[in-house]
Amino acid sequence: MYENPRLLLDSSNPPEPGQIVWRSPSNLAIIKYWGKHGVQLPRNPSLSFTLSASCTDTALAYEFREDADNRIDLTFLFHGEENDAFKAKTLAYLESLLPQFPFLKQLKLKIQTGNSFPHSAGIASSASAMSALALCLCSLEDALFGTLPDPEGFDRKASWLARLGSGSACRSIFPHAAVWGVTSSVPGSSDEYAVPAGELMHPTFKDFHDDILIVSTREKSVSSRAGHALMEGNPYAEPRYIQAKTRLEQLLGALRRGDLEEFGKIAEDEALTLHALMMCSNPSYMLLEPGTVALIQKIRAWRADTKHPVYFSLDAGPNIHLLYPGDIVAEVRGWIEEDLKEHCVDGWFIQDWVGEGPEEM
Ligand code: PMV
Repeated sequence: MYENPRLLLDSSNPPEPGQIVWRSPSNLAIIKYWGKHGVQLPRNPSLSFTLSASCTDTALAYEFREDADNRIDLTFLFHGEENDAFKAKTLAYLESLLPQFPFLKQLKLKIQTGNSFPHSAGIASSASAMSALALCLCSLEDALFGTLPDPEGFDRKASWLARLGSGSACRSIFPHAAVWGVTSSVPGSSDEYAVPAGELMHPTFKDFHDDILIVSTREKSVSSRAGHALMEGNPYAEPRYIQAKTRLEQLLGALRRGDLEEFGKIAEDEALTLHALMMCSNPSYMLLEPGTVALIQKIRAWRADTKHPVYFSLDAGPNIHLLYPGDIVAEVRGWIEEDLKEHCVDGWFIQDWVGEGPEEM
């Protein structure tokens, strides 16, 4: 278990008010985390690319509270407006941290947060949102107690804290790529937090694009939380967890060698496996839309015609992540405009790419 000191402020020497701001990106899992146990512990290791354009900015302002009681004093604004649902979620998360962060009760907290993409885009924002908040909490701890001076320890703790909010968020902390979950292929890997994996990749993958083709902006019919839970009764769960471990090893080899073909095969298999697991859950459900399937067929056909290394992935939703190396960006963008945009809501797609990870603003 990750050790955390129980930190309390000395009321005879209260801290000055302050504010911390972090920008943190979303991430796209190439090897998917699907199935969990305990407090957001993964059933299998996963590997993701850290994105760049799809991100959350979070500002955490704090001041000492003379009248501290047992509740957390939180003001919460999302894109400048009150949002009861997001506030309740954030409050529940902060309350769950109180046994280890009792000082949160000693402060008046104000969180102002917002995404670079519209909330209703059907794009999971929990990874960017929870990682941004976790980073703010680590900076807050360091500002108040000076306990996280070493960058590696800081990132590890931020990743651990992000995981407690939303499993996949723990991978957003690191530049380029991250591995979360114990695997013998990555020394130091853990189920409790992610570790950086950018250095394990050929430079080609650090210059990868991930354009997100928005097929639908409707809210998912089944949440990720419910989807993870349905893995418990899924007849394919055990073989799936074994498969994910093997595929991660294969993927690490492909990433190291810069083997685009092997990478693409694994990425697409993983995306389809995730959705196959949903379709054979009990009850069964499907998040793919007709536009998703049309796009997959077009991607395969264009790849066969042009021999360009373009591949797709999917998150827990109908939107396509189009993955390709930076040297063919002009051709791919032309093709999106000409042939793929017609399947996107209002022709909308987000240009994203493998990025440098979060930044303190
Ligand atoms: O972090 P959660 O609980 O929202 O689960 C995310 C699961 C997937 O996005 C489908 C896969 C992954 O590894 O990110």
